[in-house]
Amino acid sequence: MTDLILKDKVAVITGGSRGLGLALAQTYARAGAHVVIASRTSKTVNNVVEALRQSGYQAAGLACDVADMEQVETLAQIAFRSFGRLDIWVNNAGLSAPYGPTAHIPNSDFLNVINTNIVGTYNGSIAAMRYFIRQHSGKLINLLGRGDTGAIALQNAYSSSKVWIRNFTKALAKEYKDSGVDVFGFNPGLVKTDMLSNVHAVEGYEKKMNPLRYVAMLWGNDADVPAQKALWLASPASDGRNGLMTTVLTKRLMFSRLIGLPFRRLSKRSTELLELNVTAVKPAIGD
Ligand SMILES: NC(=O)c1ccc[n+]([C@@H]2O[C@H](COP(=O)([O-])OP(=O)(O)OC[C@H]3O[C@@H](n4cnc5c(N)ncnc54)[C@H](OP(=O)(O)O)[C@@H]3O)[C@@H](O)[C@H]2O)c1
Repeated sequence: MTDLILKDKVAVITGGSRGLGLALAQTYARAGAHVVIASRTSKTVNNVVEALRQSGYQAAGLACDVADMEQVETLAQIAFRSFGRLDIWVNNAGLSAPYGPTAHIPNSDFLNVINTNIVGTYNGSIAAMRYFIRQHSGKLINLLGRGDTGAIALQNAYSSSKVWIRNFTKALAKEYKDSGVDVFGFNPGLVKTDMLSNVHAVEGYEKKMNPLRYVAMLWGNDADVPAQKALWLASPASDGRNGLMTTVLTKRLMFSRLIGLPFRRLSKRSTELLELNVTAVKPAIGD
C-alpha cells in the first residue's frame, strides 16, 4: 500500500488530463492528496475527474488554458473552495513546436509554445504563490525539459521556453527563500507520452526525428517513473530544499542504461523502439 505522504494535501496539476500530468494526478491521489486537474479539453478533464472519483479519490477539474491568467486564477479559487486549502501546484502543461529551423516554424506554433510554457508557467506560479506566501507554506513545481541548460538547434521554441522556466523558477526561489514556500524545477527526463511519440516536423525534417525512436528505447521511461520523483518533491520530505532543480535522467543513469543494453537484450527485457508518428507541416518560408 502506498504511504499516504500527501494525506489531505490539495494539489493542482495543470495538463493533468494525460501523459505525465495524469500520472502525477494518480500518484498524488494514491498518496492521499485531493487533486485538481486542468487542461484545455473539458471532455478529457471530466473523464479523468470521474475516473479518479470512481477509484475513491477526491478530485475536481476545470477546462482551463494556462495562457489565460483569469482562467488560471479561477482554477486556484476552485481548488481552494472545493477542498479548503492549497498546498501543491505543478505547472506541468506544456507544448512543443514542429521540429525544424526557427524561421521556418509557423508563427502560431512558435507563439503557442511561448504562451503555454512561458506565460502559462508565469500565470500558474503567480496564482499559486499568492496563496502560498500568505500561508507561509506550499510547494511550487515547475516542469523543465530538454534545453533547460542550453540551446537546442531545431527545437528553439521548446528549449528556450524551458531555459526561461529554469531561470524564472530559480529567481522565484531566491526571492521567497525565507517565506516557508519551496519552489522547485523538475526535469522528468524522456517520458513516453504523446509529446514524445506524436510529433510535428517542418517538411524535409521528418527523417531527422528517427533517432528519437532509439533514444526513447534507451532512456525513455513510463510516466509513473518521474511521477514518483515528483511525489517526493511535493511531500514534506522535500521541506527546506527550496531552489532545488532536479532531473530524472542523470548522466549516471544514461551511462548505466547504455552499458546495460546488451544485458537487457539477453534477458529479453523490452528493447522495442518507440512508435513515432511524425506529421509534416508546411514551412513558413520557402527555400
Ligand atoms: N514527454 C517528455 O519526454 C518530456 C520531457 C521533458 C519534459 N516534459 C515536460 O513535461 C510536461 C508534460 O509533458 P507530457 O509529455 O505529459 O505532454 P502531453 O502528453 O502532450 O500532455 C500535455 C498536457 O498539457 C495539456 N495542455 C497543453 N497545452 C495546454 C494549455 N495551454 N493549457 C492547459 N493545458 C494544456 C494537455 O491537454 P490539452 O491538449 O487538452 O490542453 C495535456 O493534458 C511538459 O511541461 C513537458 O514539457 C516532457
